[in-house]
Amino acid sequence: WLVAVCLCAQQNVNYDESKVPAYILPNLLQANNGEKITSATQWETQRRPELLELFASQMYGRTPEDNIDVAYEIVTENPNAMDGKVTSKQVRFIFSNGKKKIEALLWMYIPNKPTGKMPVFVGYNFKGNHSTTFDTTVLYSPAFHLVKEPDHPDWERGNQANRWSYDKIIDRGYAIATMCYHDIYPDNPELRDHSIVSLFPEYDPEVIAPDEWQAIGAWAWGSSRIVDFLETQEKIDSDKIAIMGHSRQGKAALWAGAQDERFRIVISNDSGCGGAALFRRKFGETAAVINKNFPHWFCKNFRQYNDKEETLPVDQHQLIALIAPGKVYVASAEEDLWADPRGEFLSAYLAGPVYRLYGLTTIDSGEMPALHKPIMRDIGYHIRAGKHDVTEYDWECYLDFADKHFK
Ligand code: GCU
Repeated sequence: WLVAVCLCAQQNVNYDESKVPAYILPNLLQANNGEKITSATQWETQRRPELLELFASQMYGRTPEDNIDVAYEIVTENPNAMDGKVTSKQVRFIFSNGKKKIEALLWMYIPNKPTGKMPVFVGYNFKGNHSTTFDTTVLYSPAFHLVKEPDHPDWERGNQANRWSYDKIIDRGYAIATMCYHDIYPDNPELRDHSIVSLFPEYDPEVIAPDEWQAIGAWAWGSSRIVDFLETQEKIDSDKIAIMGHSRQGKAALWAGAQDERFRIVISNDSGCGGAALFRRKFGETAAVINKNFPHWFCKNFRQYNDKEETLPVDQHQLIALIAPGKVYVASAEEDLWADPRGEFLSAYLAGPVYRLYGLTTIDSGEMPALHKPIMRDIGYHIRAGKHDVTEYDWECYLDFADKHFK
């Protein structure tokens, strides 16, 4: 606790609602030339591209237009996993540019019943595929040795199994696909050369251009490659793909959903600063703090907004609006003040006008709901008791939201 207090004092972090500055958000439905946006078509042709460009050039960096080769190899397939309830599958992704290769491993559970196509949740794990389950057939994620020394407790199987309610997900008729995010971009500024970013033609190990993508951009890109693979899978209904991202992966999930409409449901779990939380509130983690602690997450241009959030040309309600007409769900945890629960809620609420252009249902009050009273419209939200984490309760809400939209 003392350490946290010192850190906050040092980094000047505000946890006092009365100290949130008065702010004016950039307009969602007014184009750069001043024109009012009044239809979904106009949003899609005029305003949406403007905002995407701003998020790319000023915050997450540009996703390259060129493609690199991606090959998939089924490494294991077990039709009798979990006492015959599911088929487990391990798939090696091989990314290459002809000169250099990077490998990633996808872990999947596909319920054996019903026999038809089924919806799927996609989500990265933080500590390797082996951390999500006690299943001993899971191979170690290829990049994990780059980030964890050999005797680290994170090599233990199932060390984050509590975050993956596999039984529940499967019993409710969903497939699930997970990959370790380090396989796409090992989460360390020194390891850029081991990331998929290093395979693209514009990569220069010595130089990072101001609008060049970094780790969050790469993670978002990687989740779209998982979708490419899922589209080849007979048992997967590719019109029913949901992405769930926690924290830094919640940031990446929102950015993925903004760019790739194949994610029909986008779920942000405690994504906070640079995810769902409004920057202009300067509550909890801020641009300056995140850029200092994680210099490899956002593009370099983003640093110019350190302590000047009010000059950002965008704010995060606009990121959420970019996901429309895809369904979106934002979740917060009461004790996770670092992620600014109110700021996360407000973004979900304030993205509403764009969803309404599509005739979709939104959060109708700017008052936060009580704990454990989820809002399940085309935009969803909940705040639960407890800390920064992914809990069984969170998964129950995501499954209810997915049932509502997919079943
Ligand atoms: C840190 C970081 C957050 C991030 C979180 C996480 O706390 O400051 O921005 O969301 O890690 O990924 O768990």
